[in-house]
Amino acid sequence: MMDQLTHRGLAKLAKQYGGVLHLRMGFLHVVAISSPDTARQVLQAHDNIFSNRPANIAISYLTYDRADMAFAHYGPFWRQMRKLCVMKLFSRRRAESWDSVRDEVDGMIRAVARNSGTNVNIGELVFGLTRNIIYRAAFGSSSNEAQDDFIKILQEFSKLFGAFNVADFVPWLDCLDIQGLNRRMIKARDSLDGFIDCIIDDHIRKKKADSTGPVDTDMVDELLAFYSDEPKVSESEDLHNSIKLTRNNIKAIIMDVMFGGTETVASAIEWAMAELMRSPEDLKRVQQELTNVVGLARKVEEPDFEKLIYLRCCLKEVLRLHPPIPLLLHETAEDATVSGYHIPAKSRVMINAWAIGRDESAWEDAEEFKPSRFLRDGVPDFKGSNFEFIPFGSGRRSCPGMQLGLYALEMAVAHLLHCFTWELPDGMKPSDLDMSDVFGLTAPRAERLVAVPSPRLLCPLY
Ligand code: HEM
Repeated sequence: MMDQLTHRGLAKLAKQYGGVLHLRMGFLHVVAISSPDTARQVLQAHDNIFSNRPANIAISYLTYDRADMAFAHYGPFWRQMRKLCVMKLFSRRRAESWDSVRDEVDGMIRAVARNSGTNVNIGELVFGLTRNIIYRAAFGSSSNEAQDDFIKILQEFSKLFGAFNVADFVPWLDCLDIQGLNRRMIKARDSLDGFIDCIIDDHIRKKKADSTGPVDTDMVDELLAFYSDEPKVSESEDLHNSIKLTRNNIKAIIMDVMFGGTETVASAIEWAMAELMRSPEDLKRVQQELTNVVGLARKVEEPDFEKLIYLRCCLKEVLRLHPPIPLLLHETAEDATVSGYHIPAKSRVMINAWAIGRDESAWEDAEEFKPSRFLRDGVPDFKGSNFEFIPFGSGRRSCPGMQLGLYALEMAVAHLLHCFTWELPDGMKPSDLDMSDVFGLTAPRAERLVAVPSPRLLCPLY
């Protein structure tokens, strides 16, 4: 049954067996949660029990034994890390991250304009875009050569996170390393150490050289303000007195940001473009709205967004049908009861955000792309209190990068649609588009979206 443990497989099983499904995998209890009501119980009513994270051998090793925020168990360390990240890294006041979004989107538009009239691989384009945004926000530079090396490290981490490791289920096999995974993990973490240690050393040197402090700070600078050789966590209110970060903490947090912020946003942009190419009526309506609100003489700017009502409805509909993280992975800290079922401590809990967004009792024509449903009063929103729509999760472990992610998503899609008219290549019809996805930590399109742009605006694009 292993190949059924995807968002689609579990949704099918839930139709047969209900919103709480228990599976045994070796010694492991696995529970799949697939309805809005059971999600509310897990993420709201009992969230103090359901807020730990499961981790396999690869995750534990590659996060320096959960020295980060995303894989830390719920508790004082996680709480202070989360406070630090929310206040220092993801805050709207960190203008530099928002600047990187704008600059990189501009760069992408110039690149597309240079390729007008030819096939553009939108999938590759937007994955490159979000990697550039996050790389720049984290490290402050956008050197292509260094970035290529870093991407190779990220790709190996991603493969190791998702690899089926028999030792996760039969622990005594770990020391034999029959699949060679332990050797790969050691090599991958050594490469990351080599890469980020140099960046950290550079930042420390730069800071010493300029005692007035750098004007433009990146995420490494923000984290270095908490740097110490000795880790420290206490519950003090003052952040600087309550937490000290080691190099390992800093490296692990940077990896959280890289993994949390690249594929999620890129897959949402690609799905948005694909759904709109498949629904020419909606595409026309969004582009008409852009013409009315922005006009054809300039590009979209931030203050325009609140007037781009239909564009925002389309993006919500995309996040409903294609939540970038389809299964939210949690673990129970102690025994719990959900809908009358007993769930033992240390169970792995998978909350199927994908199935919940398509729940037929919560959504009319649940499988259809119908953005206008979000124009109605009282329709669920994704802020976390409506459990039929949880693309960013809800409660304690919900996404801390939501604002930045939404900003990048809106900026990229609005620019792509306002600056260009898009045609499918080689006489392909909208209904020919293959809308399958592949399952991993995120669920991007199985086939990269390709389309042909032609300029739409009266102003120059580069
Ligand atoms: C469209 C964009 C995004 C979506 C849909 C999204 C979605 C999510 C979801 C569903 C979770 C897990 C919630 C849970 O386990 O209950 C999560 C966690 C997280 N996200 Fe995002 N995310 C997005 C963008 C970002 C960005 C841009 C960043 C960082 C720059 C980020 C960083 C994180 C981190 C660090 C966590 C772990 C939080 C924790 O465990 O306490 N995300 N995100």
